[in-house]
Amino acid sequence: MTASVTADLAAPTSTKLSVRNLSLSYRTNKVRHLALDGINLDLAEREFVAIVGPSGCGKSTLLKIIAGLADHTAGEIYLDGQNLGDASVPPGVGMVFQNDALLPWRSVKENVRLPLVINGVPASEQRDRVAELLTMVNLDGYADYYPRQLSGGMRKRVALARTLAYDPSLYLMDEPFGPLDAQTRVRIGGEFLKIWERVGKSVLFVTHDVEEAIALADRVVVMTAGPGKIKAEHRVPIPRPRDYEEVRFTDEFHEIRQQIWHELQSEPLPDTVKK
Ligand SMILES: Nc1ncnc2c1ncn2[C@@H]1O[C@H](COP(=O)(O)OP(=O)(O)O)[C@@H](O)[C@H]1O
Ligand SMILES: [Mg+2]
Repeated sequence: MTASVTADLAAPTSTKLSVRNLSLSYRTNKVRHLALDGINLDLAEREFVAIVGPSGCGKSTLLKIIAGLADHTAGEIYLDGQNLGDASVPPGVGMVFQNDALLPWRSVKENVRLPLVINGVPASEQRDRVAELLTMVNLDGYADYYPRQLSGGMRKRVALARTLAYDPSLYLMDEPFGPLDAQTRVRIGGEFLKIWERVGKSVLFVTHDVEEAIALADRVVVMTAGPGKIKAEHRVPIPRPRDYEEVRFTDEFHEIRQQIWHELQSEPLPDTVKK
């Protein structure tokens, strides 16, 4: 047996998501604009990748394209090796956006139960599963509340429980903790990290918060100001399970934060970018 065959067998690569030479251009007033320019990105099974970049660089657009909510003009997207082709929401992809998008007329438990119904989980199992999910996100005792009766942080927990109930194999998250105050944001981030380290699914996570990105992710991808390209990638060598707050005091964390900071500093401000 040759050495290379042994190496292949020893390190099977299972790629969950593969984005190849993805570009998006659009026209306004007969002028063609390039929003995304040749993005190449791989996400392994159970890997957590965070994307940071200047505001307006195309992070949300990239996630929307992967989620099948928007078209691209060049390149390919493969999910579990399957070419996704035209925009359509691929199965097994769960999205969490800045807006928690809870159904206001449904109670907490009904919001969380909905994906179970959609996924065909037997009615006899739904109640226990909802209770389990609400415990997971620290919402015991709130099952019968309505979204309007909850704080922003609690609504975020409900949204998270609902996405967990759907049990996606790929999570696409766009600034999911965006509207929360700084303290709640760190708390929810820490809770989310613990949950993710248990469920271990693939996550592509967009944030403008560099510290959040490093504390959560296995790899941080830095994008340039528009047109969005990938400028740099950093592997985060901090072992898991991590303490979401304590990791911020480690040398590895400081080093990566400084590098990313410099990479972002050298990008032009959003309103100076030519459209
Ligand atoms: N189809 C489109 N029509 C017009 N503008 C677009 C289109 N797609 C993307 N853009 C522009 O691309 C840029 C990227 O936006 P967005 O993805 O929201 O950035 P980010 O999430 O990084 O802040 C924005 O300037 C947006 O207006
Ligand atoms: Mg955005």
